[in-house]
Amino acid sequence: MSSMIGLFLTSQLLLLVINSRNGIQHRKNSWQDGVSGTNCPIPAGWNWTYEFQVKDQIGSFFYFPSLNFQRAAGGYGGIIINNRDVIPLPFGMPEGDITVFISDWYTKSHKRLRKDVENGVNLGVPDGIVINGLGPYRYDQTLFKDGIVYLIINVEPGKTYRFRVHNVGISTSLNFRIQNHNLLLVETEGSYTVQQNYSNMDIHVGQSYSFLVTMDQNASNDYYIVASPRFVNSSDWAKVTGVAILHYSNSQGPASGPLPDPPNDYDTYFSMNQARSIRWNVSAGAARPNPQGSFKYGQITVTDVYVILNRPAELIDGKWHTTLNGISYLPPSTPLKLAQQFNIPGVYKLDFPNRLMSRPPKVDTSIINGTFKGFMEIIFQNNDTTVQSYHLDGYAFFVVGMDFGVWTENSRGTYNKWDGVARSTTQVFPGAWTAILVSLDNAGIWNLRAQNLDSWYLGQEAYVSVVNPEVDQSEVPLPENAIYCGILSSLQKDQAQRVNFSGATSISDSSKTVFILVIISLIVHSFR
Ligand SMILES: *[C@@H]1O[C@H](CO)[C@@H](O)[C@H](O)[C@H]1NC(C)=O
Ligand SMILES: *[C@@H]1O[C@H](CO)[C@@H](O)[C@H](O)[C@H]1NC(C)=O
Ligand SMILES: *[C@@H]1O[C@H](CO)[C@@H](O)[C@H](O)[C@H]1NC(C)=O
Ligand SMILES: *[C@@H]1O[C@H](CO)[C@@H](O)[C@H](O)[C@H]1NC(C)=O
Ligand SMILES: *[C@@H]1O[C@H](CO)[C@@H](O)[C@H](O)[C@H]1NC(C)=O
Ligand SMILES: *[C@@H]1O[C@H](CO)[C@@H](O)[C@H](O)[C@H]1NC(C)=O
Ligand SMILES: *[C@@H]1O[C@H](CO)[C@@H](O)[C@H](O)[C@H]1NC(C)=O
Ligand SMILES: *[C@@H]1O[C@H](CO)[C@@H](O)[C@H](O)[C@H]1NC(C)=O
Repeated sequence: MSSMIGLFLTSQLLLLVINSRNGIQHRKNSWQDGVSGTNCPIPAGWNWTYEFQVKDQIGSFFYFPSLNFQRAAGGYGGIIINNRDVIPLPFGMPEGDITVFISDWYTKSHKRLRKDVENGVNLGVPDGIVINGLGPYRYDQTLFKDGIVYLIINVEPGKTYRFRVHNVGISTSLNFRIQNHNLLLVETEGSYTVQQNYSNMDIHVGQSYSFLVTMDQNASNDYYIVASPRFVNSSDWAKVTGVAILHYSNSQGPASGPLPDPPNDYDTYFSMNQARSIRWNVSAGAARPNPQGSFKYGQITVTDVYVILNRPAELIDGKWHTTLNGISYLPPSTPLKLAQQFNIPGVYKLDFPNRLMSRPPKVDTSIINGTFKGFMEIIFQNNDTTVQSYHLDGYAFFVVGMDFGVWTENSRGTYNKWDGVARSTTQVFPGAWTAILVSLDNAGIWNLRAQNLDSWYLGQEAYVSVVNPEVDQSEVPLPENAIYCGILSSLQKDQAQRVNFSGATSISDSSKTVFILVIISLIVHSFR
């Protein structure tokens, strides 16, 4: 499944808990991906139900609206996919499961923010960092006014909890830490990791981690939970820190004193070394009972290599755009996947270049021609001055290497060919590269994008088309509730029953031509 689906914004955060089942009837499929290349936008006032089977992944994910900068308005929620009963957790059952969303936050609306981005205006310093949508605990009387509502997490002494932490923000990398408590990393984006203690973790936009946290302090007071921006060096950022409270049931009083120290922003290798230290537990079972590591990715021959270079926003024909290999993605009015299904020519080209070409940048609907069952190596080379994170839908990929400087063929000598973690979102530091390997065993048209909303909105995305040349009986057909638009809009029947949205906080744009992705209910079939 994809870790991303569209949704309708309600005032509540929705948490979905799904139990993974052993089933073979359906494969995960891109009809349920909720991005502009696979699904028509859900018109305002409509409802649409996503149906998919979860099979290949366990762990912590989240969903969010994928169009028009709407994620900046909220509307995200967690998805937890549990192990099947026959597969043991690689750790003791935690006492509780706590989902934490950390995010940069602006008082400007998502529409104002996207106007700024269209005009080449930097997003600037956020107005705050929110934790589960709430403001900071007033740890400094001079920085914050009284009365800000903050998050309190209640715990029992001596118990161990699983914290699932997601950076659902717009564009800010955040450092997450809990005063006096270790974070025992156990899972990231569907893979069990080698279990290691960290005193803090850099979590980049779109990334998800599970930590086990043991309440092993003496509760002389409450403890701070902190999410602070990384790689910023202006004093304007001092106020921009998210602070929540960890409250033991036997706590003697409020948290006090200075916040726990962040890592040194100028130690450039700290964050990269931390990222490199996150490894796959090759002996743990996950979605399947056999060990994760039995898929020996290091021994598979690479069939396709893409070196994908991003650049900071630049003017192309008088408008601001970001590019990957010199191409800024132009979303067609008919989704790629529908165009493919109905054999409509001319909607997209399978000519995305595997290197930066020496030609002027352009705006185009150019996608990667993937080879079904091929093994692809992608090197992201970040030519921007800020951290970018890249996500591939429909797959988990192996993060095998990262370093500063320009990637060369010799860089392959540094790859981790044994226990690089399989995940779906990786950071690429400025002036650095990150290499991933991915087995293209899932037919579909899959979105590859920057998770930083400003980069994504200006065109930093592409798609990978993966076609099974044989007629595949198990491939999921076009769903009955597919919405039609663009060249195919005449196929669309009007939705008879409109949803009464009163009472919900809609982020629907008032203009009829602008659509939002809407989800009212998410139904997961369980195949026993
Ligand atoms: C992690 O730290 C906790 C104390 O907070 C300790 O009990 C545990 O043994 C450590 N685990 C590892 C794998 O280092
Ligand atoms: C336990 O609490 C006392 C104050 O009651 C404090 O002085 C001491 O440092 C605390 N110990 C730990 C391990 O936090
Ligand atoms: C931090 O400062 C350095 C040098 O003063 C500058 O090059 C860099 O762009 C600054 N970074 C940010 C994120 O402001
Ligand atoms: C890896 O997973 C196994 C369970 O399959 C567990 O026993 C072991 O402790 C884990 N190893 C590490 C280093 O986390
Ligand atoms: C795409 O790749 C397939 C092999 O995977 C090849 O047969 C086909 O010709 C390619 N299409 C284009 C337009 O390059
Ligand atoms: C971007 O590329 C240019 C030209 O190759 C190079 O001079 C510059 O150092 C690069 N910047 C980063 C941040 O990689
Ligand atoms: C959603 O739409 C379907 C028809 O497509 C309708 O049957 C259903 O009742 C609607 N649900 C709600 C909550 O309005
Ligand atoms: C929508 O629901 C609200 C509150 O439940 C109700 O007052 C209103 O009449 C409903 N509107 C329609 C068109 O049914």
